[in-house]
Amino acid sequence: MKILGIESSCDETAAAVVEDGRIVLSSAIASQIETHRSYGGVVPEIASRMHVEAICGVTEEALLQSGLALEEIDAVAVTAAPGLIGALLVGVNYAKGLAFSAGKPLVAVHHLRGHIAANYITHPALAPPFLCLIASGGHTHIVQVRDYTDFHVLGRTRDDAAGEAFDKAARALGLPYPGGVQLDRIGQGGDPRAYRFPRPKLSGGGYDFSFSGLKTAALTQMKTLPAGGLADFAASFQYAVADYLCHNTLLAAREHGYTRVALAGGVCANTTLRREMQTRCAAAGAMLYMPQPAYCGDNAAMIAAQGFYEYKAHGAAGWDLTADARSAGL
Ligand code: KG4
Ligand code: ZN
Repeated sequence: MKILGIESSCDETAAAVVEDGRIVLSSAIASQIETHRSYGGVVPEIASRMHVEAICGVTEEALLQSGLALEEIDAVAVTAAPGLIGALLVGVNYAKGLAFSAGKPLVAVHHLRGHIAANYITHPALAPPFLCLIASGGHTHIVQVRDYTDFHVLGRTRDDAAGEAFDKAARALGLPYPGGVQLDRIGQGGDPRAYRFPRPKLSGGGYDFSFSGLKTAALTQMKTLPAGGLADFAASFQYAVADYLCHNTLLAAREHGYTRVALAGGVCANTTLRREMQTRCAAAGAMLYMPQPAYCGDNAAMIAAQGFYEYKAHGAAGWDLTADARSAGL
């Protein structure tokens, strides 16, 4: 089954064609990062307008790359939640119009389920059940993936998301948006133990996270940063975030009996996190699955991949489908 996926929840307009949830036939992305950079973050109104401008071209490009005509596509899958409401509405309404006019089923996909499904592209043999850490710009969740469309959130952040902590720390250092990528680059070769950051223990929190203390500590310490200390600072901050994410994820895996752990979301492109997870999963005897970096951040191939499983489990969405900005649950 060949699914055309469409993604517009934040600042990337993307379209892709994926076969049977696993094989990427094409993947096109129009990034708005350059435009938002001068504002230090995503401006929702600008994002919506740019999605409107880009969505037809990106979809055409995805179809062209795949070598398929719209008639040869079996369904249109779209991110319906969560995200910026104006941005989501562009994708949902475009997908609805396209599917209706072409006589194809419309499939609704939850953005975080899509991030998890990025692993099915990189690891064709991976199937649920497994444990997944989702770390993105808006969410930090530890999720039991019980089946392709059955999830249970074991832990989540109580304040900032991991990506948000990266972006805020980077912004305070005067680095351009999105800061996670910049800190990753600058921290290469720095000493990860040069600076210390707290790892909050939350009362009754189980596997929950809090990144606000870490962020405040970073903002305080960077005021006295010596000249030439940026690489050590970036390496230490990344190590602190990675250590915290790894600790809670592996604790959850051990206590819930998972020997397969997956990563998902933009932050999972982080070199320190990937390396730490690899080391600790190997030490714990767990198999680690990570999407290739190109599928960690927002893309439409992951939406088409999850769309395949959503369609198999629930069939088509109604033509009254609308966008839901919040929908933090899975
Ligand atoms: O999943 P994503 O593309 O969008 C959301 O759904 O939020 O994640 C974006 C987040 C941003 O906060 C960005 O700074 C972070 O992922 N990110 C990284 C790296 N690449 C992207 N954080 C740390 N290291 C990276 N290499
Ligand atoms: Zn995302």
